[in-house]
Amino acid sequence: MQAEYIISGQVLSFEHSPFDANTPEDAARLHEAVAIGDGKILAVGTKAGLRADHPGAEVVDHGDHLILAGFVDAHVHFPQTAIIASWGKRLIDWLNSYTFPEEMRFADRAYADDIANRYLDLTRANGTTTMCSYGTIHPESVDAFFSAAKARGQRVIAGKTCMDRNAPDGLRDTPQSAHDDSAALIARWHGVERLSYAITPRFSPTSTPEQLEAMGALWADHPDCLMQTHLSEQTDEIAWVKTLFPDARDYLDTYESFGLLGARGVYGHAIHLEPRERDRLREVDAALVHCPTSNTFIGSGLFDMAGLMADGHRVGLATDTGGGSSFSMLRTMAAAYEVGQLRGTPLHAAQLLWLATQGSARALRLDDCIGNITVGHEADLVVLDLASTPAIAQRSARAEDIWEAVFATIMMGDDRAIAEVWINGKRD
Ligand code: GUN
Ligand code: ZN
Repeated sequence: MQAEYIISGQVLSFEHSPFDANTPEDAARLHEAVAIGDGKILAVGTKAGLRADHPGAEVVDHGDHLILAGFVDAHVHFPQTAIIASWGKRLIDWLNSYTFPEEMRFADRAYADDIANRYLDLTRANGTTTMCSYGTIHPESVDAFFSAAKARGQRVIAGKTCMDRNAPDGLRDTPQSAHDDSAALIARWHGVERLSYAITPRFSPTSTPEQLEAMGALWADHPDCLMQTHLSEQTDEIAWVKTLFPDARDYLDTYESFGLLGARGVYGHAIHLEPRERDRLREVDAALVHCPTSNTFIGSGLFDMAGLMADGHRVGLATDTGGGSSFSMLRTMAAAYEVGQLRGTPLHAAQLLWLATQGSARALRLDDCIGNITVGHEADLVVLDLASTPAIAQRSARAEDIWEAVFATIMMGDDRAIAEVWINGKRD
């Protein structure tokens, strides 16, 4: 097949995980150019070689900009876009003070459409091409999000948030309606173009055992869907879960005993895990999602990235908008680096970039189609200017290799570093 575009720069692809490599940089390869057509990556190689093979392609030359797979954000709440950076509360108070009142507004489909588009504009400007989002309890919020993503040709995952207790009037469903509304959304959206559905019980404190059981039954009926929820984010939350589920062995057991633990389970935060929980999560090869700006912003704790990776866990990286304080995966990588430093285990730039692309794609079980620049993958790309501000430019000018150069952009970059974004083989 002939390519439509040849995009040249420093094209970064991963051959394997930089957490497995002897030295993290050995996991990565730099190429001169990537050829894309019909929404797919057709070839990587030298610019001259690709031009010879694809003489009709338009060449888009990005000089020495760094070209990566588009960022993948493994855990977000698009409905919290307008309340990001709300001051001074910890998790439960933050939910009650800021989040629930805002989520109430999504009963209005026009508002949901507005925020879905605003969120996708903001994240595209930050180089994020795929995300896994919670909706609100309103099925219309998921319709709004999927409709907006479909119009942009974007690969996204989302689900209706289910809550039938410990949430205000107007923000509760029932075990039956949560099941039926989620099933109807799966029928309407799951597998349509690039969209897929995640069954979404918010977290154990806001679901009765009956609702968790209904969610488990729904997942058993739709095993190809992801199931996303929150796990062990704050110590107060864990204590509350103990009082709500006195017979549970631990927090994870409140999911496990209702059929909500599995390989396609995606567990946000997962900071304060018991040994049994870690063992079970690894045994079933479930995904854990590190949300570092959220974990520091809401005061939750320090995710054990090094320990979990060494034990072979499947881990993704996420903003957790709007508990997280940024829409940017660059800022999120910087926060992951800082959390690693506080634990005495700093992450290499190659590991940070891998987590923000392939790691998150693996967590969402999408690594066969996105998250790397490799032949056959979908053409979602981000082009990074490694000298986007004077502060970054003067530091990267001193860099001795690509890792030092890109690390300055990871630590200090923002949407000004995003030179171009390609979604499904098309430029924005
Ligand atoms: N736990 C339950 N709901 C939420 C949420 O919306 N954000 C975060 N950070 N944690 C949660
Ligand atoms: Zn969350």
